Amino acid sequence: MIIAVDGPTASGKGTIATALAEHFGLPHLDTGLLYRAVGRQVFLDGGNADDGGDALAATGFPDSLLGDPHLRDEETGGLASRVSVHPTVRQALYERQRSFATQPGGAVLDGRDIGTVIAPEAEAKLFITASVQARAHRRFLEMRDRGVPVTLAEIEDDLRRRDERDRNRAVAPLVPAADAMVIDTSALGRDEAIAAAIEAVTHAL
Ligand code: C5P
Repeated sequence: MIIAVDGPTASGKGTIATALAEHFGLPHLDTGLLYRAVGRQVFLDGGNADDGGDALAATGFPDSLLGDPHLRDEETGGLASRVSVHPTVRQALYERQRSFATQPGGAVLDGRDIGTVIAPEAEAKLFITASVQARAHRRFLEMRDRGVPVTLAEIEDDLRRRDERDRNRAVAPLVPAADAMVIDTSALGRDEAIAAAIEAVTHAL
């Protein structure tokens, strides 16, 4: 059983994917982390995220980088969004995601193109979305708790820029699979969003 969870940044897809993995007893891969690791490696190499060659070279990042707390930074998220437009980078990360998805027993993967590219045969596909205001507000509270000095307007701007890049790129743009179940979490609390996702997946199986 493969469960694909796609959606934009701060939509709640990570929280939902983690909860689904626990509920159904499946391993979980946050594929955004792989793109973040590439973005971070470009930075460490002093390369340019918009350059296809630099970005491709950075896909050779060491596994230890996946544990780097800097992967969660907003700067790294921006770099991830930039390296992810290169088809060669997406291709280089494909096999790793594909073998995770097809492991015996099944898996939960969250990202942007799981239901469309990585595992189009997934038994359950969710597309998690929320208004840019709701997502910015959540991200703002999260960052305030971590003591990061940032304004709501800055976060909203950054989210809009990233959404635009993710939706308009030529390869694997952020769009719901035709057979995805869309869950809008704008007006839902954490537990409500998780309950809605568990119900949707249960119905799909
Ligand atoms: O989900 P997260 O914010 O960690 O992803 C960081 C960036 O990586 C996204 O903005 C997106 O551009 C890219 N990404 C992608 N395909 C995925 C996962 C992430 O293009 N499957």
